[in-house]
Amino acid sequence: MPEKKNTYSRAAVAAVALALFCGVSYALLSATSTMSFCSSACHEMKEQAAELRFSSHARDKDGGDISCVRCHIPADFGPRYLAVKTYSGIKDLYAHLFRSETPLFRARLQKTARRFIDDGNCLLCHDDLYRDARGEQAVTDLGRIAHDAYLGKNGQASSKCVGCHINIAHLPEFDRRLEVNRLFAERMQNKEEAGDAK
Ligand code: HEC
Ligand code: HEC
Ligand code: HEC
Repeated sequence: MPEKKNTYSRAAVAAVALALFCGVSYALLSATSTMSFCSSACHEMKEQAAELRFSSHARDKDGGDISCVRCHIPADFGPRYLAVKTYSGIKDLYAHLFRSETPLFRARLQKTARRFIDDGNCLLCHDDLYRDARGEQAVTDLGRIAHDAYLGKNGQASSKCVGCHINIAHLPEFDRRLEVNRLFAERMQNKEEAGDAK
């Protein structure tokens, strides 16, 4: 019993520290240093950071790193958000993070993370939903129909960006059905052979 309690409090300290570090470094440092901070200082995030480097979001248009906060901290980050949403997000993440070590763990964590990723962040880089990710060509027909729905045309119900676009930055084992994810999984597999180059 005492051992369990000990694990519990260490876990609590880690969760709070992680959240504070990332939040504080967002406020104080540039996005790039935040990224290296979050992914190297917080070892819990190593796996997610490694996956990001092989995802479609490894690099921005100018070839720079895309930092964690570009997606995970709302662009309209403010005191109210901090007080309400981040609190409940941390609480949720905490609950999911330390409740179990089973493979379900990341599946749950993903759902929670999705709830707290703002569409506004995505739109800062993808401002025209009728263009592809590079902004070079028209989006596919399927994309046009889906984005019409997102924008509320045709009176259809919509979902958040990450409700449809799953695994755009991370790829746990359990979700490799989409073509884009299959390619991502292949890159992850090849990385060992390629020597894990950045
Ligand atoms: C910092 C800018 C930036 C942010 C923030 C960003 N993206 Fe991207 N996104 C990119 C770039 C760059 C690419 C890759 C373009 C290319 O193919 O070279 C990309 C690719 C994509 C793709 C196509 C590849 C794939 O994996 O399906 C989708 C869909 C996408 N982004 C959706 C999103 C969503 C949803 C969000 C919000 C959670 C988001 N993006 C946030 C810059 C960004
Ligand atoms: C209802 C589901 C749905 C929603 C909501 C949605 N999308 Fe999409 N999106 C799609 C589909 C489907 C495609 C086309 C994928 C294909 O044909 O490969 C697409 C295509 C894209 C592409 C082009 C991908 C590429 O390969 O170049 C980007 C970028 C993108 N979406 C960003 C977003 C962003 C940002 C949001 C939120 C503001 C969003 N989407 C909301 C379903 C959705
Ligand atoms: C392009 C947007 C984007 C970037 C950049 C990004 N993430 Fe994520 N992250 C997501 C989305 C979307 C989810 C929700 C799960 C999903 O749909 O893949 C998520 C989920 C997570 C989760 C919980 C689920 C899991 O996979 O374990 C963690 C932890 C996480 N991200 C950490 C990070 C860290 C650390 C970085 C920087 C090294 C980072 N993310 C960068 C979009 C992003």
